[in-house]
Amino acid sequence: MNRTFAIIKPDAVAAGNIGGIVNLIEKNGFKIIAMRMQHLTRKEAEGFYAVHKGKGFYDELVVFMTESPVVLLALEREDAVAKWREVMGATNPANAAAGTVRKLYASSIGRNAAHGSDSDENAAIELAYFFRTSELN
Ligand code: CMP
Repeated sequence: MNRTFAIIKPDAVAAGNIGGIVNLIEKNGFKIIAMRMQHLTRKEAEGFYAVHKGKGFYDELVVFMTESPVVLLALEREDAVAKWREVMGATNPANAAAGTVRKLYASSIGRNAAHGSDSDENAAIELAYFFRTSELN
């Protein structure tokens, strides 16, 4: 068993797709360890995406992620990082496979409905960024 960090992004929350995405999470065998709705501050979004600072889409990404509330999740299952990326589908919904979160719910590469950690190492960093240790037991 290992863990990954997921975000249901502002576009998906605003469109009423929290339930659809949580259903996909559960149907795919993830245990939800922690889950919280939160309206990110600019500082929180900038810190979370610091690795992308300087890229052309960084400012747009920070504005988007702070426009309205998100849902933050800690997910657990075997091979959690790779499996959640598979369930989300490709970053660009135009390339996402049928039945994936992004094919079903995303509208563009920027407004792409969900986030998932890209490695076990980053999952640990991202989980610790948003959840206290006591929430992850
Ligand atoms: P995410 O998995 O949250 O991690 C970084 C995000 O940057 C990514 O999802 C996309 O939403 C966003 N992103 C990546 N490339 C682009 C791009 N070319 N234009 C706009 N947003 C992008």
